[in-house]
Amino acid sequence: MSTTLRIAPSILSADFARLGDEVRAIEAAGADLVHFDVMDNHYVPNLTIGPLVCEAIRPHVKIAIDVHLMVEPVDSLIPLFAKAGANIITFHPEASRHVDRTLSMIRELGCKAGLVLNPASPLDWLDHVMDKLDIILLMSVNPGFGGQKFIPSTLGKLRAVRRRIDAHQAAGGQPIWLEVDGGVKTGNIADIVRAGADTCVAGSAVFGAPDADGGYRGVMQALRQAAQ
Ligand code: DX5
Ligand code: ZN
Repeated sequence: MSTTLRIAPSILSADFARLGDEVRAIEAAGADLVHFDVMDNHYVPNLTIGPLVCEAIRPHVKIAIDVHLMVEPVDSLIPLFAKAGANIITFHPEASRHVDRTLSMIRELGCKAGLVLNPASPLDWLDHVMDKLDIILLMSVNPGFGGQKFIPSTLGKLRAVRRRIDAHQAAGGQPIWLEVDGGVKTGNIADIVRAGADTCVAGSAVFGAPDADGGYRGVMQALRQAAQ
């Protein structure tokens, strides 16, 4: 698993005044995706960035932009993010009236589609849409802020989703990534990967890295090493 581990730094913890430099720096440091947290002060109690910022960073990196929508309603923003260069779009099922329709819309616009499950959200949301998912994102903190502590019960949930994905693929289904978001650090990434995650978001762990320890490249290597 660790050889295919994808690391997705969350720019929520980046220096927003120098966002172009920041995304170029994480790409140069070996990031696999740019994790892009969209908050609307309605679905979550915080307000961040939208399609204009996605469009602005797009020319600065080649790696995929992983848009995590923490907004309600969801549908009207999807075409805007697809046009702004998003490659992956995930949303919280509680925030969409018609989850199946929203997933289809994301794919029809040429992006990978995924559901995000909060710490207390049941896995039942996955039951009837496995064939429409490219990614499942498990929140290991309650959404809204960077720098929170990893909720340990996420490990059991990861194992359960890993079983579902493996069974789906064994029955001929398409590949589905399993991403985890919130409180991922060098101290817990081994447990997270062992539980079945193949894609790890890391915000404060990456952007809070001290330059003395090799900066972003140093922390990215430390995360990969710890995961092995
Ligand atoms: C929280 C966001 C996360 C957050 C992760 O709502 O979805 O992506 O930025 O930050 P850390 O890694 O600091 O928990
Ligand atoms: Zn996120």
